[in-house]
Amino acid sequence: MKAVVITKSGRPEVLEVKERPIPRIGDHEVLLKVHAAGVNRPDIFQRKGNYSAPSGVSKDIPGLEAAGMVERVGAAVTQWKPGDKVCCLVAGGAYAEFVAVDENLCLPVPENFSYAEAAGLPETIFTVWDNVFRRGGLKKGDGILVHGGAGGIGSATIQLAKAFGAKVFTTVSTTDKELFCKKLGADVIINYKNDDFMECLSGETVNVVLDSIGGAYFEKHIDLLADDGKLIQINAMQGAKVDVNLMKIMHKRIVLTGSTLRARQLDFKKQLAQDVFNYVWPLIGKRYKQHIYAELSFDHAPTAHKMMEQGEVLGKLILVP
Ligand SMILES: NC(=O)c1ccc[n+]([C@@H]2O[C@H](COP(=O)([O-])OP(=O)(O)OC[C@H]3O[C@@H](n4cnc5c(N)ncnc54)[C@H](OP(=O)(O)O)[C@@H]3O)[C@@H](O)[C@H]2O)c1
Repeated sequence: MKAVVITKSGRPEVLEVKERPIPRIGDHEVLLKVHAAGVNRPDIFQRKGNYSAPSGVSKDIPGLEAAGMVERVGAAVTQWKPGDKVCCLVAGGAYAEFVAVDENLCLPVPENFSYAEAAGLPETIFTVWDNVFRRGGLKKGDGILVHGGAGGIGSATIQLAKAFGAKVFTTVSTTDKELFCKKLGADVIINYKNDDFMECLSGETVNVVLDSIGGAYFEKHIDLLADDGKLIQINAMQGAKVDVNLMKIMHKRIVLTGSTLRARQLDFKKQLAQDVFNYVWPLIGKRYKQHIYAELSFDHAPTAHKMMEQGEVLGKLILVP
């Protein structure tokens, strides 16, 4: 099969289409014929050599999510049969013509969704559901701040938080992204190139912050959060080492947490998939729209990574074999 391979750590050009063997499937796995794979920021960290795949997962084929048709099923598979259309969460290997995936990490392609639209759902929705709703306990009437509202995680957070009745604050770097987040339903959108989000949000109640920036934002988040607020780190793009004023944490009873999805155990992911199917899948296509910025063929994977690194993407980028 053809796959996009990280030939060595480095710039986007290290991604090359190569021949690789079709993955073998275990008893509980399905072999998916990939029609589309989502591009996520962690793929870029992997390409640069800063985010290696967990054991048992392809080390050099990136890609955390895909959609396609079930080609073959393992002996113990009960939920799917060849010909079914599914999208799935994988810990790597989705930039390929075929990927092997546990049957419980597959969800049906939502009605009226293309493969490209469905391929961009799992990684962001699983991450947002786990962090914002399970870990962060976001509920109706709460306020949430998410940075990078126009990105994959940002656009998923805005739509899900709105669907569950929260007030959403977000940051962006351009007017186009500002308009995009408005359409997604964000209540307050701050262009952080022009304005300080702390000043813009004074007087607002922020119960949850979903942050992938870290660094200098950390202290601002502690100051911004309401009593019993939750700061959830899913990355630290501007620095993972920060000064913490423990008195502030104590006085406001702030919960500081975070997670990374990729390395979690299969049982955890299975349960998360079930939650996503029960609570989020009914909203897809109704309260939750998928916005595809561009679909590129596998041989344009370097271009896709460049587009994401340059910050031009609104919504999701998709690769097609
Ligand atoms: N922990 C996990 O399990 C997990 C899972 C998936 C993703 N993630 C992380 O979540 C983050 C988002 O991933 P993604 O796939 O959604 O990437 P993405 O589509 O590229 O979105 C990232 C967004 O961050 C914004 N940004 C960059 N610097 C910023 C700053 N200083 N202030 C505010 N916004 C800033 C960018 O918007 P502007 O260009 O407008 O600044 C961009 O829209 C990444 O850091 C990724 O590693 C974590």
